[in-house]
Formats: sequence, C-alpha cells, structure tokens
Amino acid sequence: MQVVGSDLKGVTLMSNVALNAQNVGKSFASEEPFIKRWRNRNGKRLAVNDVSFQVNRGEIYGVLGPNGSGKSTLIRCIATLLIPDAGYIEIFGHDIERDEMIVKRLINRVSVDAAFFKKLSAMENLLYAARLYSMDGLTARRKIREILGRLGIKELNQPLEHMSRGMQQKVAIARAFLSSPILLLLDEPTTGLDPRSKREVQEFVLEMRDQHDATVLLTTHDMDEADKLCDRVAIIDNGKIIAEDTPQGLKESIRHRIPQPTLEDVFMELTGKQLVVEQDLAKEVS
Ligand SMILES: Nc1ncnc2c1ncn2[C@@H]1O[C@H](COP(=O)(O)OP(=O)(O)OP(=O)(O)O)[C@@H](O)[C@H]1O
Ligand SMILES: [Mg+2]
Repeated sequence: MQVVGSDLKGVTLMSNVALNAQNVGKSFASEEPFIKRWRNRNGKRLAVNDVSFQVNRGEIYGVLGPNGSGKSTLIRCIATLLIPDAGYIEIFGHDIERDEMIVKRLINRVSVDAAFFKKLSAMENLLYAARLYSMDGLTARRKIREILGRLGIKELNQPLEHMSRGMQQKVAIARAFLSSPILLLLDEPTTGLDPRSKREVQEFVLEMRDQHDATVLLTTHDMDEADKLCDRVAIIDNGKIIAEDTPQGLKESIRHRIPQPTLEDVFMELTGKQLVVEQDLAKEVS
C-alpha cells in the first residue's frame, strides 16, 4: 500500500481515502416483532445492512435518513464503539479492528448523548478533555476560549447543568475540535438547536474543513443541512444505502419528474415515504 504522508499526530496515513467502509453489517438481537425483511436468517434486527461507501480527505459527507434507519449504528461502528458483524472499515488505510489505537487518534465523535461533568463549567470540562489530550494548560485555555467564542458560547464558567441542551451540544462540538481530529464523526450535530445556533455550528464545521484539514462524516434528518453542508450525501433507509451522490446530482436524478426538486423529493421518490422524523412530529404536536 502506498504511504501518502505521516504528518498527523505521528500517525502514518496509508491512503487519501479518509474512510472506506465495505459491506458493513451490524445486527442486534431483539425481542421486538420486526418485519421479516428487516431480519437476517437468525431472526436478528439488521440495523446496518451491507453498507459500502468512501469519504475522501477534506470532504463533508452526509448520511441522511429517518429515525431508526441505522445512522448512529453506522457511526458507532466507525468510531470503534461497536464491532461490525460483516465487512470492514478503514480510516486513512488503517483497519479499525486491527489498528484500533491508531484509528482512535485520528477520529472524534460527537453525539447528542455526549457525557459531561454537569456540575462543572464548559471551561472546566474542556480543560479536563485537554489534559486527556496532553495539551498544556495555557495553550488549552487559549484554544478553548477561541473555539467557544467562535460557537457563540459566552457562559464559560457556569455549570453545564444550567445551560440549555443546545448550548451543551455546542460544548460537545467544541470538545471534539479541541484535539484537531482529522476525521470528525458528527451524529446529528444540529438536532434540537435553534436556527441561529444551527447556523453557527454549520459555519464552524465548514471552517474546520476549509482551514484545518478536517474530514467530516455527519448524520442528519435535515435536508437543508445536507444540501448546504455536504459535498456528497448517502441516503439510508432500513440500514441500506439507497442512493449516493452530490446534493445537486441527487436532485438532478429526479428533475425529469419534478422541475425544482428538493432532497425531500428525492427521498420520497426513492422510498415512497416522506422523511418524517420524531422531532418534527413532536414540533407539530407542540
Ligand atoms: N444497542 C442496540 N440494541 C438493540 N437494537 C438497537 C441498538 N442500537 C440500535 N438498535 C436498533 O437498530 C436500528 C437502527 O438504530 P439507529 O439508532 O442506528 O438509527 P438512527 O438512524 O440513528 O435513528 P435516529 O434518527 O432515531 O437517531 C433501530 O431499529 C434500533 O432500534
Ligand atoms: Mg441516531
């Protein structure tokens, strides 16, 4: 295999493909009466079903799908938190199972259920993380102020438990960027944020890619977000990727039927369903 560089965190990058997932499968034992076609031969629930895709260095790649389609399971497999039952995943040419420790240095994951010390402030939580990354105190404080300021977080010293969920989500994103990960896995980074916070996070993600050589894999239900942020998008349904292209390419593919299509229309054409998610339903009810 060709060695393409060794510049990052002392890790040799074996490929310019940031993420290579091939025929990845993951199923869970379940008591629930799932529809037969969603089960494998052992009667298990197929959460991720024969998924293959590649993300190039510097890309922002979106995985778009409804609730329960397998987005988080896929991210957790890539983040080495779950072991796939089938297929393999490589990060810059390093196999996630064989080279787990190397892979952990190259990736960082943010999810809505981020764990924090809730009685400590954003600054204290991030300083704690910085120590784990072996950053010196002065550099850490400067970097934390810069990132939190950039994300519009002014309350550096109040306990996290007093901050809104959206603000806590932004602190989680700030923490992921602290270690300058080369591949960032963002599981619904803007779900639950108000429009302004959403925009701030989206701009920050773009900035990290453009100025800090980050590659981003993000999951979302938000069609506009996928359209605005992602270079390429995979649409996932029932654990399977059913389409993959640039947002423009996906829309072009149905323009013969719908003159000014949105990604929502693309999803509808491909699945015959609307991409309605629980959060949207909750908003409609409230
Ligand atoms: N630890 C687990 N044990 C059993 N089943 C699981 C587990 N994690 C996920 N599943 C099931 O796998 C399927 C995919 O779930 P997953 O959380 O990956 O979907 P998702 O696309 O992230 O959904 P959402 O948009 O709601 O976050 C679901 O049917 C879910 O119930
Ligand atoms: Mg999820």
